[in-house]
Parts: sequence; structure tokens; C-alpha cells
Amino acid sequence: MSQKRVLTGVKPTGTVHLGNYVGAIKPAVKLINDARDCFLFVADYHALNAVRDAKELKESSYSVAATYLAFGIDLDKTVFYRQSDIPQIFELATILAAVTPKGLMNRSHAYKAMIDKNTAAGKTGSELDDGVNMGLYTYPILMAADILIAQSDIVPVGKDQIQHIEMTRDMAGSFNHLFGETFKLPEFQVQESAGAIPGLDGQKMSKSYNNIIPLFETNKRRQKLIMKIVTDSKLPEEPKDPESSTIYQLYTQFGTEAEIAEMKKAFEQGGMGYGDAKKLLAEAVNRELEGPTELYNEWLENRAKLDELLDAGAETARAVAKDTIRDVRKAIGVKA
Ligand code: ADP
Ligand code: TRP
Repeated sequence: MSQKRVLTGVKPTGTVHLGNYVGAIKPAVKLINDARDCFLFVADYHALNAVRDAKELKESSYSVAATYLAFGIDLDKTVFYRQSDIPQIFELATILAAVTPKGLMNRSHAYKAMIDKNTAAGKTGSELDDGVNMGLYTYPILMAADILIAQSDIVPVGKDQIQHIEMTRDMAGSFNHLFGETFKLPEFQVQESAGAIPGLDGQKMSKSYNNIIPLFETNKRRQKLIMKIVTDSKLPEEPKDPESSTIYQLYTQFGTEAEIAEMKKAFEQGGMGYGDAKKLLAEAVNRELEGPTELYNEWLENRAKLDELLDAGAETARAVAKDTIRDVRKAIGVKA
């Protein structure tokens, strides 16, 4: 087990689905529980760039917290908190902004994606910045502050976030160069992911495509959705290619090895209809998610307890953050 400090943040955004679970939540919980010293936080101020509804931000923040608790993060070695409870993060973001060239932000994927979207919509000139607020534009600075405030060593992230860790290293390196060794340079650790999980229509499962199977549902509702997965019209006795079947692809994430092998064989040999395969899939998914769903609902009904846990985590995180910001203030010449 590593002694290194592992830190990761989760942006609260709407309904979580099976794709988020397989691609992000499950691998993160494993990494967190394999580490000895862990910081995990709800990145609520990152969500603010896109959310304009107080109730929505509040609800999805609780939901993220309940999700990680439902999947059993070990609170004995995990400091679990809300970003918004650590004011030193925002002070550090201001300081980092002073040593960050604007050009670095211009290269950020999140910002560039918005420019690409506007370009595709036929916009030109200053309209290219439509929909870009300064929070989105400087997102990598806030993220660097999240990471550096806790003196993190390792940051587990999805592939899409690697660039942000590289930018964090750039900012920490510039600061150290200008003001003396203050920050450790964190490393990213890419979460192993099974690739994109398909949704009901066979495209990548995503909130934006309206094709999701929500993570926390009743067994009945989950089964109902699974029965809606789009298939071709092959008859049960016709051989089918498992690799191009959404049902089989999902089954590889939830079935046991033996069950997966069995479905593969049945598909290839033409011994299974889609209806039966969907039933097997629903059983496997429900088996894995029934327990966590119950826990999730219990946590959501007990918000006072959730607040208590997050407040306690914030206290520990603030103690670390205060030490960091004291060193940073000293380094730059502000009264520490
Ligand atoms: P959505 O596409 O529904 O908006 P997000 O972009 O909020 O999902 O994704 C949050 C996390 O879940 C990311 O780390 C992403 O890699 C992972 N993820 C999302 N959809 C899938 C999917 N279909 N398969 C695997 N991982 C996914
Ligand atoms: N940007 C990350 C995401 O969208 C969330 C995040 C915010 C984060 N701050 C972080 C992840 C710090 C790792 C470390 O998924």
C-alpha cells in the first residue's frame, strides 16, 4: 500500500448512470480504498460554472456524497469534504492565477470544446466565446488549487482530465521557480476504464443523449429500462455477434466470468434470444446495485448525518490547507 496522498474531486452533475459508475465511480472507489491517505471532495464550485439553480446544486452535492458512501469508501483513511468549505482553495486559486499565463488557459480542453461547438454553429469573432464564463475559462486554475492545497501526490482521473493535471504541474513548477520550492508536483493516475459503456440506443451512455440507465433505481424500474435496450431483429436461434451487442457489452461489466462466457457462447451459437439475455443482464445489474441503492437512499434521507460527516472532513482538510497557505503566503511576501 502506498503512503502517498491520493486526492480526487467529483463534480456534482445530475443523475448518475451506469456509464459513470463503470467508468468513474467504481474505479475511483477502488483506488481510494487501496490507498492509505486519501482526500475526496465534492467539487461544488466547479459545478457552479454550469448550474444556475440553488436547489439543483444542493441536491446533486448531497447525491454525490451519498453515492460514494453507498459504495463504501473507507472513512477511517479518507478525508471527505466539500470544496466550498475550504476557503484556502479559493485564496490559492487567486495566487496561482497571478503566475499562470493566459495562453495556458487558451489551450484548456473544456474551453476549446466550447469554441469548437460555437464554430460548428457557424459563429465567428467574439461570438466564439458565447457560453464561456470566466469560471469555465479558468477551471484548470481552481482545479490546480484543489490539488496543491492538500499537497497531493497522486490524482486519479479519467483520461479527459489528464491535461488538467499537467497544467497543475506547470503552475506548481512556475510558482516554485519564482518563489522557491513550495509545492510537490502531483502525478496523475489514469483510472482503468472499460471504454465507453453503451446506452439504451447503443451510443455511448450519456446524459446528453437521453439514453441512460440511472444507477440508483428500484430493481423493477432498472429491469424495465434494460428491456428497452434497442437490438436488431435476429431470432433466438440465429447466431449473434456479442461484441456489437449492447446487452452483452453491459453484461461484461456486471456478470461473473462464468456468466459472461456463457452468454458469449449462447450468442455465438445462436442459443439465446435478446429477451432472455436482457433478463440475465437485469439480474446481474440488480444483484450488484441493490445493496448500494438501499444505502444511497438511507444516506439521502439522513442529511444531518451527511452534513456532520462532511463538516468533520472539512475540518481536517482545512487544517492541511491552512499549513499550505501559510507557506505560500510566506513565499510570496504576504503576512502569513
Ligand atoms: P455524461 O456524458 O452523462 O454527461 P459525464 O461527462 O458527467 O457523463 O461523466 C462523468 C464521468 O463518467 C467521466 O469520468 C466519464 O469518463 C465517465 N463516463 C460517462 N459516461 C460514460 C460511459 N458511457 N462509459 C464509461 N464512462 C463514462
Ligand atoms: N474536473 C474534475 C471532473 O470534471 C473534477 C475535479 C475538480 C477534480 N477538482 C479536482 C478531479 C481535483 C481531481 C482533482 O471530473
